[in-house]
Amino acid sequence: MNFFENYIFRWLSIILVWTAVDGFTPPGRFRESSALVGNRLYFFGSQNIAQQRDNIYLDVTLSTLNTTNPSWFMSNPIPAEFLLASSCVGGPNKNTIYLLNHLTSNGDSNTTIVYAFDTVAATWSTPNISGQIPLSRQQFQAVNDTNGKIYMFGGFKYPNPSFNVIFNDIYILDTLILAWIQGSNVNAPTPRVDFTATLLNNGLILYIGGTVGDSTIYMSEIPTYNINNNSWNTMIATGDTLNSRS
Ligand SMILES: *[C@@H]1O[C@H](CO)[C@@H](O)[C@H](O)[C@H]1NC(C)=O
Ligand SMILES: *[C@@H]1O[C@H](CO)[C@@H](O)[C@H](O)[C@H]1NC(C)=O
Ligand SMILES: *[C@@H]1O[C@H](CO)[C@@H](O)[C@H](O)[C@H]1NC(C)=O
Ligand SMILES: *[C@@H]1O[C@H](CO)[C@@H](O)[C@H](O)[C@H]1NC(C)=O
Ligand SMILES: *[C@@H]1O[C@H](CO)[C@@H](O)[C@H](O)[C@H]1NC(C)=O
Repeated sequence: MNFFENYIFRWLSIILVWTAVDGFTPPGRFRESSALVGNRLYFFGSQNIAQQRDNIYLDVTLSTLNTTNPSWFMSNPIPAEFLLASSCVGGPNKNTIYLLNHLTSNGDSNTTIVYAFDTVAATWSTPNISGQIPLSRQQFQAVNDTNGKIYMFGGFKYPNPSFNVIFNDIYILDTLILAWIQGSNVNAPTPRVDFTATLLNNGLILYIGGTVGDSTIYMSEIPTYNINNNSWNTMIATGDTLNSRS
């Protein structure tokens, strides 16, 4: 080996060792979705075509987490492309991740498709779900409670998303009985997309920010959905004055 070959060989060896130790470094992505199960923070899909079926996770085992150098791992790919949508945790053992998708392996779907990822077996399935299946949507939000229920709200109608049809309905996916149940629409907030949804321990889901087309929604107006009695309310926040945002 001449000097140059030797130099390259050493660098290749170092890169191989790094790869083995660190898992791998996934390419950047956006409009993905995430879910935490145990010590694994999973990420699904992307706007970038090459990563639209990606199922990757960051190992966040706190006892061994090296915050300088955490490790990424790749898991089994999603059965369909996935972006601008939501992933939540549920199932009888609280370790299955449900993707609420608007795409199938054949392309567009007019109704919401659910893909289930068993995080123990690392396998995907397409469960049959009873009840009225919600129309497809994107840029909505979904949150799960600790009893296997997933609450999906808002978003653009899909395909052909436009501000002419945006949703303010709430659908509940009960992952224990595999059924869609329509939530309450009494006092529901106006339709919206690109907001956040956060479930508090008292059973209130807070929907903050977002947009309705020409304007963004004020941060002082906070619609809440109470999962204990399926009722909508609106909180008007005070304190520092914030601009609207989505
Ligand atoms: C964490 O990773 C950094 C960078 O690879 C390394 O220098 C450091 O020794 C690691 N720390 C531990 C506790 O393993
Ligand atoms: C979705 O709905 C449109 C309009 O009604 C229809 O033309 C299309 O065939 C439907 N697509 C599927 C996959 O059912
Ligand atoms: C869903 O239902 C279809 C038609 O009834 C059946 O062929 C399929 O095996 C079922 N899938 C699952 C996962 O149970
Ligand atoms: C979502 O479900 C998992 C599993 O039951 C649970 O650990 C987590 O706390 C739930 N999220 C919320 C916001 O309740
Ligand atoms: C639901 O519960 C909240 C909090 O206990 C209560 O303020 C509200 O009136 C209830 N709504 C309905 C429709 O029962």
